[in-house]
Amino acid sequence: MGEIRYEISPGGTLSGRVRVPGDKSVSHRSIMLGSIAEGVTEVSGFLEGEDALATMNVFRAMGVPIDGPHEGRVTVHGVGMHGLRAPAGPLDCGNSGTSMRLLSGLLSAQPFATELTGDASLCSRPMRRVSQPLSLMGARIDTAEGGRPPLRIQGGGGLHGIDYDMPVASAQVKSALLLAGLYASGRTCVSEPAPTRDHTERMLQAFGYAVERFPGRACVAGGGRLRGTRIEVPADLSSAAFFLVGASIAPGSDLVLEQVGINPTRNGVIEILRLMGADITLSNERSVGAEPVADLRVRSAPLRGIVIPEALVPLAIDEFPALFVAAANAEGETVLTGAEELRVKESDRIAVMADGLIALGVDAVPTPDGIRIRGGTYGGGGIRSHGDHRIAMSFSMAALRAQAPITVRDCANVATSFPGFAELAARAGLGLRALA
Ligand code: S3P
Repeated sequence: MGEIRYEISPGGTLSGRVRVPGDKSVSHRSIMLGSIAEGVTEVSGFLEGEDALATMNVFRAMGVPIDGPHEGRVTVHGVGMHGLRAPAGPLDCGNSGTSMRLLSGLLSAQPFATELTGDASLCSRPMRRVSQPLSLMGARIDTAEGGRPPLRIQGGGGLHGIDYDMPVASAQVKSALLLAGLYASGRTCVSEPAPTRDHTERMLQAFGYAVERFPGRACVAGGGRLRGTRIEVPADLSSAAFFLVGASIAPGSDLVLEQVGINPTRNGVIEILRLMGADITLSNERSVGAEPVADLRVRSAPLRGIVIPEALVPLAIDEFPALFVAAANAEGETVLTGAEELRVKESDRIAVMADGLIALGVDAVPTPDGIRIRGGTYGGGGIRSHGDHRIAMSFSMAALRAQAPITVRDCANVATSFPGFAELAARAGLGLRALA
């Protein structure tokens, strides 16, 4: 992948109406569940980003006919619960932790062996959080040293249901176990220490699969079947988050983000920004399929530093890089704790964000499980994204209030979650040029 860098001139205003690309979590799941369903699944609004495309290629490699994507439309010709075929070689998940972790559950239940691999970032991420509980269900998974990828999944053995208390609040772990549970004998139940995104539970139900849901707990019984359906993918709140922050901090901004997913297990970014004083209003609230959506209007407003309630952390886990930029533009100090998970995302987001903020002259102090950021004026300069899409997009928005240009290097990975970011942001008013 060639180097792409963003050069962003300081200042500017965000305005107009934009539709950010489809939700990444929902896009992954539409391919996975569509593939093991009976009959055809029609997906619209599919995220044509590299992560979701990696999932698509994995299922094609296991014999699932998939048409598209063409302008967000995908047709999955489901092969049924037992129709996946042994792939010819290792399955490449690229940069995508969601692909690898959810697939580890599904593939543990197949009658053939598979190997899951990915890029350098993914191969440094922890996988014991899935391999260990899956092995309690009877799965046989070998990891590389330190519980890292590649994962070698033997398959072929029957799984049995378990009742699992997750030590970390992770939708990926929960989903891996529920997917394995579709094939296991008896019931599989997963309890979470804090609410995590529930797209898997909602989508299983949309495919006609019964999920028992209790506060903080979900259960499936093995041996059922999924029926192909229609999935409309909402715009991704995690992608909208950069614009929510950008328009909040750039004076004079007034921006509408259309048809954004506002699932209550995902909307922590809206709550946190509002606690900081942001002016965000929702309109046109409705459901598309199993997911709630709304148009979000954001107008610039003076932000103040806050102590971020720990209960909101899992509900905003992917949005902290953007929220740190909001904090850098707030009056007073913002304190985040209870967010050590940020250290094992596509990069160590605490360290990488702190380094970048400090390089711009922001008063930022990383801590083992969070960060302290004191807002104020800051300059420009060079930022390294460490190949992490959300770092690159967050620092792009920081330029709206910088006193000199910002250059962000290593931006190719923005295409994993937000193809067209540079063009869309420029159209909304950000002075961004993407240079190869
Ligand atoms: C995701 C769950 C989250 C999130 C990731 C997508 C999902 O990870 O960070 O980007 O689609 O289930 P964890 O469940 O590990 O927190």
